[in-house]
Amino acid sequence: MKTQVAIIGGGPSGLLLSQLLNKAGVETVILERSTRDHVLSRIRAGILEWGAVDLLREAGVGDRMATEGIPHDGCYLTDEDLMVHIDFRELTGKQVMVYGQTEVTTDLYAAQDKMGTQILHGVENVSIHDLDQSQSYVTFRHEGEEKRLDCLFVAGCDGFHGVSRKTIPEEKRSEFERVYPFGWLGILSHTPPVHDELIYSNSRHGFALASMRNENLVRYYVQVPLTDTVDDWSDDRFWHEFSRRIPSEAASRLVTGPSIEKSIAPLRSFVSEPLRWGNLFLVGDAAHIVPPTGAKGLNLAASDVFYLHQALIDAVKGGSTTGVEEYSARALQRIWKAMRFSWQMTTMLHRFDGEDSFAEQMRKSTLRHLADSETARRDLAENYIGLPY
Ligand code: FAD
Ligand code: DHB
Repeated sequence: MKTQVAIIGGGPSGLLLSQLLNKAGVETVILERSTRDHVLSRIRAGILEWGAVDLLREAGVGDRMATEGIPHDGCYLTDEDLMVHIDFRELTGKQVMVYGQTEVTTDLYAAQDKMGTQILHGVENVSIHDLDQSQSYVTFRHEGEEKRLDCLFVAGCDGFHGVSRKTIPEEKRSEFERVYPFGWLGILSHTPPVHDELIYSNSRHGFALASMRNENLVRYYVQVPLTDTVDDWSDDRFWHEFSRRIPSEAASRLVTGPSIEKSIAPLRSFVSEPLRWGNLFLVGDAAHIVPPTGAKGLNLAASDVFYLHQALIDAVKGGSTTGVEEYSARALQRIWKAMRFSWQMTTMLHRFDGEDSFAEQMRKSTLRHLADSETARRDLAENYIGLPY
């Protein structure tokens, strides 16, 4: 097989990159380890920055998002004493969009099918070769056969556990990591949201987040110890814990119901530099992970795709390599700013086991500062709605 850009991974990064490249006349083949149903059933991100919304529109997948997505003008940050409203629209003139990752990937698969892009599911033993030559190739096993895909460039869009990052020699990679001592237990439930905007709540029982997918589908989270498993959390236990962690006024309006999905995600900050090795480019979770507080994971994947699609179009269609040479440095500047924001939001809103009373005072005074200073709120809002590409 032969293509211009081989894309490893058919999650949001790989699909969006492929769609934007195909629209510009650049050929791609996507190699995905899982089935399409599996990719589409992974409940993950829920909030899109406006830059990501614009990029999805540019990719030609904005129609359903325009009717089913819910623009949000603000969110709340609370502890037991204060409830601070961050008014994105007033502070920045912009909004975010509530539109789940499952919907984004559904729309992208439909658009790629229309485009006639080859997406191979169930590929195994993906291995990337000759990255330092003018042409590279990828070998893999598919439907019981060993196959080879020749290409000019390889996009590593295969998530944190993929092969792409590990293909870069260890001595050429710098890795930066912080693992947090807790996870998030998330549930989906067909119930009306407890509030019309998101609530990030730091209570004495730990963090909780009230989010949503639509007017009758909620996504709620609670901070849990890393040792907990989903089996430790009956629906009743979840609702009890969630309702005592959100402000009492919101809890009084809480409607409970059966969960239709329940999962635990560990929290981690991670960056691997550089994002380029010869003809290979890392994109999204393959290169970096943020803790979910602040909803930056999927949005960072989108900004990587923004930089890389332009660079690859210039290289393939225009013969200019400036963009591919600058991709890593350009993307990393924005990645590190989102790393800082997600780390700060995580530190401000969670309880850490064994922390001292000083740490609690720091959290309280950060929230107090946000309540009292419009400048502080504007800074948070600018980061939340998404820094410019
Ligand atoms: P992925 O979505 O991981 O996609 C990578 C794809 O590559 C997968 O389909 C995988 O099957 C495939 N793949 C892996 N290895 C191979 C291989 N060897 N060969 C071929 N294919 C391979 N972000 C938020 O903003 N908000 C959230 O609430 C949130 N919750 C999350 C919860 C969990 C449990 C996780 C893991 C992430 C969460 N994120 C969240 C982050 C967000 O979902 C990711 O940033 C986003 O999915 C990144 O997209 P991606 O395409 O780069 O990677
Ligand atoms: C969601 C997840 C987040 O991490 C976040 O900060 C906001 C919303 C969600 O899944 O809806």
